[in-house]
Order: sequence, then structure tokens, then C-alpha cells
Amino acid sequence: MNETLKTIHSLRSIHGNFSSQEITDEDLKLILDACVRAANASARQSYSIVVVEDRDLMKKLCGYAGSKALVFCVDYNRIMDVAEHLGHRFSVDGVIPFVTGSTDTILAAQTAAIAAKALGIDSLFTNGIHRGDITRVYELLSLPEKYCFPLIMLVLGYPKKEPGYLKGRLRGPGVVHYGKYYRATADELATLVQQYDDSEKHLGLNDTWKQKGFEHYLAWFYTVWSARSGKKSGKSQMYEILERTGFLESDSVKE
Ligand SMILES: Cc1cc2nc3c(=O)[nH]c(=O)nc-3n(C[C@H](O)[C@H](O)[C@H](O)COP(=O)(O)O)c2cc1C
Repeated sequence: MNETLKTIHSLRSIHGNFSSQEITDEDLKLILDACVRAANASARQSYSIVVVEDRDLMKKLCGYAGSKALVFCVDYNRIMDVAEHLGHRFSVDGVIPFVTGSTDTILAAQTAAIAAKALGIDSLFTNGIHRGDITRVYELLSLPEKYCFPLIMLVLGYPKKEPGYLKGRLRGPGVVHYGKYYRATADELATLVQQYDDSEKHLGLNDTWKQKGFEHYLAWFYTVWSARSGKKSGKSQMYEILERTGFLESDSVKE
């Protein structure tokens, strides 16, 4: 394996236990300069990255804290402001710019995680910014209400304690489809269930499902983990915030 593949294969999440060791400003700059190299639709870079260096602020934002954190937001404000500055109009209403902007944003975020790992820095992606009252993220970071949505937060730092193992991944049928979509057979589904049960593979979120009396890891996953947040009637706060951003307004598709 070359160094790039070794870096990618060594990626892992540090679940909240980062040490007090700080990332240097030089390394932070290397990560930021690398992440914006990711591909981006129409060469627009439809995102903003908010760098957070205050650990208390990180906790308020997502519940975790490391040396630095990057909040990756889908964001069209810079592009719209430049348009206005030049006397042009640039409209981004609708779900298409949201999906395209989200793609730009997430590619930059994953590139940041890889760049960090190449420098020996670990990370944690968290959607903790979407838990609780999401408006706090807008307030704490002074995000514009329109055409800006905080998509994912990447906490960076050094682990307090080395994780015992790398989490596994599924790779075969059901994940990779050659040529056309292929629906896993009953036998293949049973193999998937077994793979999750295999404690050597570390595919699941925990190894405690057996002690809790479940026959399979996925039985625990579907009944306990997936049932954590019950369905509420009405719109979610995230939906309301997306409405406020303008990203859910009816699409104006150019023919
Ligand atoms: C969108 C997203 C949100 C996540 N949110 C959290 C989180 O809030 N807390 C956490 O401990 N891990 C979080 N993770 C990390 C995953 O749990 C982790 O990637 C997964 O268990 C696989 O482990 P690994 O990254 O160590 O291989 C998140 C990952 C993603 C991609």
C-alpha cells in the first residue's frame, strides 16, 4: 500500500476523548489548504468553513471538544454577495443548489479529515450540531439565516487514549454494485447479519448487544438504537430551518 492508501485505511473516529495537545497553526493551515482542493460543482465552492478554536464553544456547538474544530456549512452568501457587488443577480432557491452545495461541502470535509490524518491528527465527524436547538449554531457562529446551513462538524486533535481497534466496513454485495443495482438475496442478507455479529469485524456501534439479550447486533440496532428518537408529528426543526434558508423553496429549473 502506498502512503495515501495507508492514511485512508487508518482513518478512525475519536469519540470525544481528545487530549489537551494542540494542533499547530501551521498544521491547521495545511488542513484548510488541502480541503479546499476537493472537487466542487461549477468551480463555486458552495461552502464556508468556520474554524473554532475555543473548546467551550465546541462543546456548546456539538457536545465534543478537541484542539480545533471545523464547521462545514453549505453556503451561497459569498457567491451571492460577489454577484451583487458586480451588479448581477444570482439565485439559488431550491433543492438542487442545496444538494450540489452539500456535495461540495462534504467532499471538502472528508478531504480535511484525510489531510489531518496524513499529519498524524485524528478527527471526529459529528452531527451534534443538529441535536437540540439548531438555532444556537446560527447564533454562536453568526451564520446568515438565508442560503447557509451547517452540515457537519469535524473535531480535530490527538486522542487521549488509543482506540482498541479500527472499526470495520462492509464491502461486498449490497454495498458495491457492478454495472447495475443488485438486490442482496436472502442468503446474502443472512451473511450480512453474521458479519455484524462477528466480534472480530467491529462493524457495529458496540459489542454489548449479546449481554443485553439480543440474538443479533442488528436486532439491537433496529429495536434500541434506531428507536432512540421517536417520530413527532409536524415539521422537524431542521425542516423549518431549511425552509428559512430558502433551500426548500420551489425549484426554478432552467430548461
Ligand atoms: C454524519 C456523521 C455523524 C456522526 N456523529 C457522531 C457523533 O455525534 N458522535 C460520535 O461519537 N460519532 C459520530 N460519528 C462517527 C461515527 O460513529 C463513526 O464514523 C462510525 O462509527 C465508524 O467508526 P470509525 O469512523 O472509527 O471508522 C459520526 C459520523 C458521521 C459520518
